[in-house]
Amino acid sequence: MRLDQFVSQATGMSRKEAHRCIRGKHIVVSGAVIRKSSTHVNPDDEVLLNFEPIALPGHIYIVLNKPAGVVSATEDTSQPTVMGLIDHPHWHTLHIVGRLDKDTTGLILLTNDGEWSHRITSPHHHVDKTYLTTLAEPLSAENAAKLEEGVMLTGEKQPTRPAVVEMLSDTQVRLTIHEGKYHQVKRMFAAVDNVVVNLHRERVGQWVLPADLDEGEWCLLENHAF
Ligand code: URA
Repeated sequence: MRLDQFVSQATGMSRKEAHRCIRGKHIVVSGAVIRKSSTHVNPDDEVLLNFEPIALPGHIYIVLNKPAGVVSATEDTSQPTVMGLIDHPHWHTLHIVGRLDKDTTGLILLTNDGEWSHRITSPHHHVDKTYLTTLAEPLSAENAAKLEEGVMLTGEKQPTRPAVVEMLSDTQVRLTIHEGKYHQVKRMFAAVDNVVVNLHRERVGQWVLPADLDEGEWCLLENHAF
């Protein structure tokens, strides 16, 4: 890995800032001051920034309980973002694994392991997602059966894959889907002439939102094996 890339990933500096820092003789690699950004760093090199060791973060796996009103984005000029809630020293290396709408609450995964997030979001893997939904109108048994079988969403060529509907009351439904189309849950209920008034994600794959994780809080995943 290039030295400017290493410094940037280890510290959160931009590549430009890392370059300036290297040119300014602030970086020592295995005992020698290095002023060239393109210098190759080996895994066993010791890298110091202003005499303090710096290191690459390694893989990080996080679960966040997203509050409403926060956008699933790394940056936004006018709205609070999911990334703004992650006060982890290596937050700058993370990306979001599958988005939620601004008004949706609940489980969001974040990582810096691109392969892991790809496997979770890939349409080929059909990872389950479970949502708690509150509806504007009671859901009839007939419409629940339609949702389970698969419904045609506006603008799509194929119906949704079979889903699982658990009726908690006539307007409260736990829905498990095995795909992740844009606004899928809201569009599925719209396809049976209903409206989602509240949407909360409880689970993605084997990861369930911890009961003691308050809205806006995050923790490291105990087990990220997939
Ligand atoms: N489906 C939706 O419609 N919205 C979400 O945020 C997630 C799934």
